[in-house]
This record gives sequence, structure tokens and C-alpha cells, in this order.
Amino acid sequence: MKTSIIRTTVIAATAAALTTAASAQPAAKLKVGLMLPYTGTFAALGNAIENGFKLYLAEQGGKFAGREVEFVKVDDESDPSKATDNVNKLVKRDNVDVLIGTVHSGVALAMAKVAKESGTLLIVPNAGADAVTGAMCAPNIFRSSFSNWQPGYAMGEVMAKRGIKKVATITWKYAAGDESVRGFKEAFEKGGGTVVKELNLPFPNVEFQALLTDIAATKPDAVYTFFAGGGAVKFVKDYSAAGLKKTIPLYGSGFLTDGTLEAQGADAEGLFTALHYADSMDIPKDKSFRLAYAKTYKLQPDVYAVQGYDAAQILGIGLKAVNGDTSKKAEFARAVEAAKIDSPRGAFSLSKAHNPVQDLYLRQVSGKENKLVGIASKALSDPARGCKM
Ligand code: PHB
Repeated sequence: MKTSIIRTTVIAATAAALTTAASAQPAAKLKVGLMLPYTGTFAALGNAIENGFKLYLAEQGGKFAGREVEFVKVDDESDPSKATDNVNKLVKRDNVDVLIGTVHSGVALAMAKVAKESGTLLIVPNAGADAVTGAMCAPNIFRSSFSNWQPGYAMGEVMAKRGIKKVATITWKYAAGDESVRGFKEAFEKGGGTVVKELNLPFPNVEFQALLTDIAATKPDAVYTFFAGGGAVKFVKDYSAAGLKKTIPLYGSGFLTDGTLEAQGADAEGLFTALHYADSMDIPKDKSFRLAYAKTYKLQPDVYAVQGYDAAQILGIGLKAVNGDTSKKAEFARAVEAAKIDSPRGAFSLSKAHNPVQDLYLRQVSGKENKLVGIASKALSDPARGCKM
């Protein structure tokens, strides 16, 4: 009898001590898995995303909902064949609370599959793979960037309206290239244009010569293209060196000239592209963002930096609503779905499938800037084909 009373007392005392300790202790660190390319043709894009993400976090005093952040970083090399292993390491070995990644659509598809199966929160800060917010959409998957369909569709509308009739397309043969061209074609053909030739090369190859010869022989009214990062630099330079820039106007999704102008120089001058961000916009949030970014990193931001910043904003909004408890997935999603995200690109909200509903800007390269020319497509929402949510 006596022993049992003592035992009860001890248990009660221990429980009380634990409660006190729990409330006095700071919340456990939030583990953020950053899966991005730090090598290869998209290396600069991965770095800009990380910079943007960390800038927002720093503005919040280094914490999300009172939790300090511990980063676990993986270089995904934009290699889809390593993607499933890489994301599984973060989810199963490192037990991250949230995944942030990535740039390459093929790698992002593998991340979305693992996130969907494991229920881990995923915020995609670039990769446009339509299926991420289409057939693979899920309550725990969000995108702070765009779908591949969006800039393609917007540019298709612009080019059709300009009275361009015959276009050749050229891109890398993988999800992003295919879907960008498909979006372009959908709007361009709806507007009365015809795609007369679709040219491709494997990602991340940059041997463009034979394809440029084909374009010269085909003589379309214009060319639509998707390339990005290091590949975009080389393509713009080669297009100009082949003498095509003067005879066959080159258009693209805005990745063609974003974060690349320093390296492309005069060969990019005058090019028109469509994207959800532009330089020299008259948006107060953009002005403060650009100042803070330049001060922190001694670099000008680009669309990738904006998307990284907004991925952190989305995470912050969701975590605030659940008091930092990442297991409350439904509440997290509800808060993000209801939010207006104060982005440097202009405020946006997410669609039901969790992709940004946003203005697509028409930009023209002038010196080192993608100057805002106008709005290519207002509040453009991805059709989210195949999403059941
Ligand atoms: C993609 O693979 O989805 C991708 C890569 C780079 C970009 C845009 C899209 O700039």
C-alpha cells in the first residue's frame, strides 16, 4: 500500500516536472530540407532560391512561428535519376519537417510523389511540372512559382495578337520544355497561328548548331523557346551568332533572359519574353525586396530569388496558423489557401490546386534589365488538369 502511494506521488511529480520543462524549453528546431541544384546548368538558380528563402527568414528574426530553423541541404544536380534517393534521404533519414525544392521539373515530380505518399509538406520554389499542381496535386503540396503552362500560354496569346502566323519552337526534351511549348501552342493556335516545326534536344545539351540551321531553312515568322540558366545563355548567344536574331525574331518564356543578362550581353538586347516577374516594376514590395536583397548578397535578385522568398512566405503563413505544428496539415493548408501573398511580383493567391494565380508580364530586354512592357495575361490561372482535390 505504502509503496504504491509513493509510486503515484513520484509519477505525478515527474509528470509535473516534464510539463514545466516542456513549457520552459524553446520549441524544437524546424528541419527544412533544401533540395536544389548547386551544380550544373541550373546552379545559379538554386543559389538564388536559397538566398531569397533565407532573406525572408532573416526578416522574421530567423524563426517561423517561434521555431528556429535547421537546414539540411542536398545538391540534386538537376538529375532525375538520383531524385527519388535524394528526397528519400531527406524524408526518411533526416526526418525533415518540410521539403523545399526544386528547379528541374523531372526532379520535382519525384519529390511530389514522395511528398504525396509520406504526407511531408512540400513547397516547390521553381519547377513548373504541370502535374505537381495537376494530376499529382495534394493538400500538402504547394508551389510559389508557376506552372510550365503559364508563361507559354501567355506568350502564345501575345504572339497571336501581334499577327504572327508561323512559328518554330525549340527547347529541351523534358517536362518543362514540352509543357512550355504545349501551353504556347494552345494559346497561339487558338489565336489563329500555326506551329510549323517543333525542335528538341536532350537536357542539358547545348549543341544547338544543327537545329539553328534547320530554323534558318524553315524560315518561320518567329521562334518560341524555353531554355533557362547556363543553357539559355548559350542559346541566346548562338542564335545571335548564327545571324538569326535580325531575320527571325526570338521570343521565349522569361527564363530565357532572367538571371542571365550579365552573361548574354548585347546578344539578348531587345528580346521579348513573358514571365510573372520583371525588373523596374512600380511595386513598393518589390522595391524594398530588391534593396534588401542587393544589400545582403551584393547581387541583383531575379525571378528565382523572388520564388524562394515567396516559398518562405508560404511556409511562414502556414506555420503561424498551426503554431509551428507541422502535423496539422489541414489547418496549414486552409491558412495558405486563404492568404494573399505579398510578393515582390505583385500580391497573389493560390488556386485550389495550390499554384499561383498571377499576372504574366510582357518584358523586353534593355541593357541589364527585363523591362516591364505590359501585362501579357492578367490573373492567369493554370487549368490544373487532372487535379482532384
Ligand atoms: C523546370 O524544369 O521546370 C524549369 C527549370 C528552369 C526554369 C524554369 C523551369 O527556369
